[in-house]
Amino acid sequence: MSKVIAIDGPSGAGKSSVSRIVGKKLGFLHVDSGALYRIMTWQCLEEGVDTSDPEAVAAFADRVRIECRPEDGEIRYYVKGELPGDRIRTPRINAHASAVATVKAVRDRVTALLRGMTQYGDLVVEGRDITTAVFPDAPARFYLTASAEARAARRQKEEVEKGIANQSAEAVKASLLARDKIDSTRKHAPLKKADGAIEIDSTELTLDQVVETVLGSLNF
Ligand code: DC
Repeated sequence: MSKVIAIDGPSGAGKSSVSRIVGKKLGFLHVDSGALYRIMTWQCLEEGVDTSDPEAVAAFADRVRIECRPEDGEIRYYVKGELPGDRIRTPRINAHASAVATVKAVRDRVTALLRGMTQYGDLVVEGRDITTAVFPDAPARFYLTASAEARAARRQKEEVEKGIANQSAEAVKASLLARDKIDSTRKHAPLKKADGAIEIDSTELTLDQVVETVLGSLNF
C-alpha cells in the first residue's frame, strides 16, 4: 500500500512549495489537486460552459479528458496531449475556479483521479479536502495556514515573477479572500481543519522551517 501525506489549507499558505520539497526529500510524488480543479475550470471556459450554472458544469465534468502521468517527482496532467502550464494560473481562472469546485460531479471526478494515483507510489497530496474527504485515513495530515496579508503577498510576488499578472496586493488579497469564502462555506467537502490534523501557521516561518516541521512530525 502506498503512503500518503495529506496537506490542506487556503490559497497562498505555501502548500505547493512545501509539498514539492517534502516529496523530493522523501521520494514521494507531489500531487497538486488544485491544478485539477483549475483544468476543469479552464476547459469549461474554453468550451463556453457557464461556470455559474452548476448543472451545465456537472454535465460537462465527465467530458474533460485528463491524462495523469508520474514524471520527474510529480504527477503531471495532460489535456489533449499538452501540459496546461500557466494557462490555468491566470486571474480569470482564479475568478471561476471556486465556483466550479463547488459542483459535486466535478469533486467526484477529481477525487476519483486522486485516489487512483496511489497506483504510482507514495504521494504528497495538497489541496482543500485531502485530509477530510479524499484521504481522511492518511497516516500524516497537515493544515497549513498563514495570515491573509502574508498569503496575498506571496501570491502577488509569484504572479509578477511568472509574468502572469501585475495586480496590486489589495486586488490579490480581495480575490484570495473571496475564494477562501466560497471554498470554506460550500456544501460538498468544504475547506476546514480536519480533526487530528497538525496545524502549521507559516506567517512567521521560512519555507525550510515549515518543511522541517512536517518532516519532524512524520512517524513512518
Ligand atoms: O490550490 P488552488 O488555488 O490551485 O485551487 C484552485 C481551486 O480549486 C480553489 O478554488 C480551491 C479548489 N480546490 C478544491 O476545492 N479542493 C482541492 N482539493 C483543491 C483545490
